[in-house]
Amino acid sequence: MAATDVRTYQNYIGGEWADARGGATLENRNPANPSDLIGLWPRSGAGDMAAAIDAAVAAAPGWAGTSALKRGEILLRAASLLEARAGEVAAAMTREEGKTGREATGETLRGVAILRYYAGEGSQPVGEVYPSANTRTLLYTLHVPLGVVGIITPWNFPVAIPLWKIAPALLYGNTVVFKPAELTPLTATLLVHILEEAGLPKGALNLVVGLGAEVGPTLTGDPRVTGVSFTGSNRVGREIGRVVQERGGKAQLELGGKNPVVVLADADLDQAAALTVQGAMMSAGQKCTATSRAIVERPVLEPFTRKVVERVESLVTGDGARERTNVSPLVSEAQRDRVKEYLDLAREEGVETLAGGGLLEGAEYQGGHFVQPTVYADVRPDSRLAQEEIFGPVVAIIPAEDYEEAVALANGVRFGLSASIFTRDIVRALRFAEDIKAGIVHINGETAGAEPQVPFGGMKESSSYSREQGKAAAQFFTQTKTVYLDHPATPHPLPAPTDPVDPMDAAG
Ligand code: UN1
Repeated sequence: MAATDVRTYQNYIGGEWADARGGATLENRNPANPSDLIGLWPRSGAGDMAAAIDAAVAAAPGWAGTSALKRGEILLRAASLLEARAGEVAAAMTREEGKTGREATGETLRGVAILRYYAGEGSQPVGEVYPSANTRTLLYTLHVPLGVVGIITPWNFPVAIPLWKIAPALLYGNTVVFKPAELTPLTATLLVHILEEAGLPKGALNLVVGLGAEVGPTLTGDPRVTGVSFTGSNRVGREIGRVVQERGGKAQLELGGKNPVVVLADADLDQAAALTVQGAMMSAGQKCTATSRAIVERPVLEPFTRKVVERVESLVTGDGARERTNVSPLVSEAQRDRVKEYLDLAREEGVETLAGGGLLEGAEYQGGHFVQPTVYADVRPDSRLAQEEIFGPVVAIIPAEDYEEAVALANGVRFGLSASIFTRDIVRALRFAEDIKAGIVHINGETAGAEPQVPFGGMKESSSYSREQGKAAAQFFTQTKTVYLDHPATPHPLPAPTDPVDPMDAAG
């Protein structure tokens, strides 16, 4: 395609589509075939971000004053529009993020489910009624909007993560400034078009495309942006958290993982191997919930490892747009190089490589950012390979003598997002659910995956102790107001100094 045919996309600010004020653009390329230039997007600056914040501030009172039922109706319409355009959105996702058509379709339909879920939340209670010490007082709480929220999302789930933040943010009455990852602006643009078409008023949702370093500080530093919800790396997330909290704002951070599966000797090994490979290799391991460690009881180490390697060797790595592809490219050259550092480290450290261990290059791969699905054996639990988030199609197998050691190893990292155990022993399974320090626990399941109606989030360094999705989202996107409503006609003499003291009475 000649450069002149390449379409230029825009920001969406105050209900208008607009170029970056400075006129600069960013290229968006297909990670399976970087010669495929998808389009140009605004390389926004501080002025664009400030304009988006102004628009969100201006729209906030009107949106907060719209009934939750009406807000829910708009989300419901957006769900139907997204469902109708699922093929187009999934294809856009594959083209710019790389994930396979199957995974992209699954994620898009998950987006539909998220929108439907929050549409339904629009008719749920927004507070609680409490008994009061004063029998004439109606004592209740309201969960009211924060006001303006900033939503900063990663490239790895370019539909699901934006929607699981934007849908509750809007439903609970906030206006939004949305800063998607610069690697996936096409899916972000499509989502904003869909929400616009569904009937959002001007300024309720604003899209600013750009580099985090160039537009992020304006968003995170502005005291009018009461809340900032971020999913991404620990390095960036902690900095955002620090800046937002220092100015008295509210930050929600969803960060990295180093998720284990524990395979006990009584496990169904075919199931354990299949779901370990699925958890480790789908989306080329680029999920914060990906399986990156398999901790295996010695008696089944050999057969489990053999089954994992057999499955990994049967995987087809390639362009996610091809039907037979199982493992997609990494999203960018920079991510590929980051993962390669770990592959090089494994080689230097002499780690036993059972599958993969390198990049996939050559004519067949069209310069795409491909990494071989990789399995390492007998990885030292304290090594960087076993401790750090790799974000690539790499799994480390780690032997354990028994359940106790397996749990200690599983917990022996700074992250705590998700974890799984494979066993037929219900008592052990329930003990694991207690012993493991992870926000999400699976029993005989894959570490990845998240249903919209339940809380999602990690322990330890994986999050900021807040949860996303389900009703948990309300805890972040609202604040509580407590109302004491007293009867206007209640006689209210001052208590005499000799009256008995009522400890519940504010005057006491
Ligand atoms: C999933 O496992 O399906 O960025 C969702 C991530 C997580 C979402 C995982 N926040 O990978």
